[in-house]
Amino acid sequence: MNDQLNLDLLNLENLLETVKDQGLKFLQQIEERPTSTKYTIETIDKLSDIGFGGLETLKIFNQKFEKLIVGSSGPRYWGFVTGGSTPASIMGDWLTTIYDQNTKSPKGQGDLSAIIEIETTKLLLDLLNLPKDFIGGFVTGATISNFTCLGVARQWIGKEQGIDFAKNGVSGNIKILSASPHSSVIKSLSMLGIGSNNCIKVKVAKDNRESIDIEDLENKIKELNGEAFILISNAGTVNTTDFDDFKKINKLRKKFNFWWHIDGAFGAFAVCSPKYKHLLKGWENADSITVDCHKWLNVPYESAVFFVKEKHKILQTETFQNSNAPYLGNPLENFSYLNFLPENSRRLKALPVWFSLNAYGKKGYQDIVENSAEMANLFGAFIEKSEMFELLAPVRLNNVCFTLSGMENQDKISTFLTQLNETEKVFMTPTVYNDKKGIRASFVNWRTTKQDIEIAITEMERLKTTI
Ligand SMILES: Cc1ncc(COP(=O)(O)O)c(C=O)c1O
Repeated sequence: MNDQLNLDLLNLENLLETVKDQGLKFLQQIEERPTSTKYTIETIDKLSDIGFGGLETLKIFNQKFEKLIVGSSGPRYWGFVTGGSTPASIMGDWLTTIYDQNTKSPKGQGDLSAIIEIETTKLLLDLLNLPKDFIGGFVTGATISNFTCLGVARQWIGKEQGIDFAKNGVSGNIKILSASPHSSVIKSLSMLGIGSNNCIKVKVAKDNRESIDIEDLENKIKELNGEAFILISNAGTVNTTDFDDFKKINKLRKKFNFWWHIDGAFGAFAVCSPKYKHLLKGWENADSITVDCHKWLNVPYESAVFFVKEKHKILQTETFQNSNAPYLGNPLENFSYLNFLPENSRRLKALPVWFSLNAYGKKGYQDIVENSAEMANLFGAFIEKSEMFELLAPVRLNNVCFTLSGMENQDKISTFLTQLNETEKVFMTPTVYNDKKGIRASFVNWRTTKQDIEIAITEMERLKTTI
């Protein structure tokens, strides 16, 4: 064995204890951790010949890079849609690394950790009140979940046209309808060879909504003259957390032939609360659903699931099978995740989710969702009352989309947001909504309290004079 590796093996307990202590300190002080950093660091391109060993490497990391690490899993990081990590999810994540399984198949010899993944997806279906006729699997994020679901949809539409796209390549023009697709959906369309320009934009509903206008949807469907298409709908749009009307989409399903995909990256979790579960009524009939776990489920990056109806499993296997590797077995006889989703080698991403679901149960997630909504409403109420700001849309659930009051201040948004983020006390991201520049604060972190809202408000009030 290499000397340096041997020394680290003998010193393993010390190495892990040191990292544990450092990690614990970080988590215990996460509220004070800056939410942004101004440091930039020169990167080097020369590697040591014999290596430094684990402990010395940690010292180098700490001297050089530790200051780049922001409190993105803390309570005042409201940019993008960034969840934190529950204590139990960190336990599961550590064990995922330590066990280092390569999760593929639930049967046969070797690694059987896929059984844990299968159980976790079933527990998620239960949490989300979805029927058992979906098969789920873990991928890195909602982008790849959307990609996976739309990959199966692409195979479905090919079959409708009598072509096996997986074998023969994509041909013709695939019709996609959507009103407010997330950017990752458009990216997926280009990755899938469908083409990002081929999404037919349906109008949004009246009264400042991002949800689909059902009447316009029906008109656009009729214009397709019976051609099969893919409908991409939303359970929670990223700017204003709007939901499409799934009950009405169910009615359209009875009349027209389409694949129904729902991007519920974070909005899916609204179903955990009796107050908000009506927003998802009817979603159980979709063909495929995207759900992110590193958002409202509060497990570490990278973690998301896809749910595709079991009846489509042949299409899914046709899309993702390793068709030229007979040594991997018959993909239709022996279920293996490597024939069911984009990656072949994969870590046991389900374990942090399994830990968190078991540790906090349905009540835990109901409380997280309801607390986030309460925090969003509190922050939204401040925006509404303030003369300095205005809401760009009502607070529907957990996202607050706002801007500086007055058209004359549109040019000042970017400077204001930069200054706000530079306080390092709170972090938000820029957006554009209805042609207006704005700011988005997204509440999905389990730690956020009223005190955090007050800290953010104090900083925003303080910056008043600079506008
Ligand atoms: C609705 C929606 N879909 C998809 C995504 C992409 O998620 P990810 O960054 O995990 O790939 C996001 C991210 O914010 C989202 O809000």
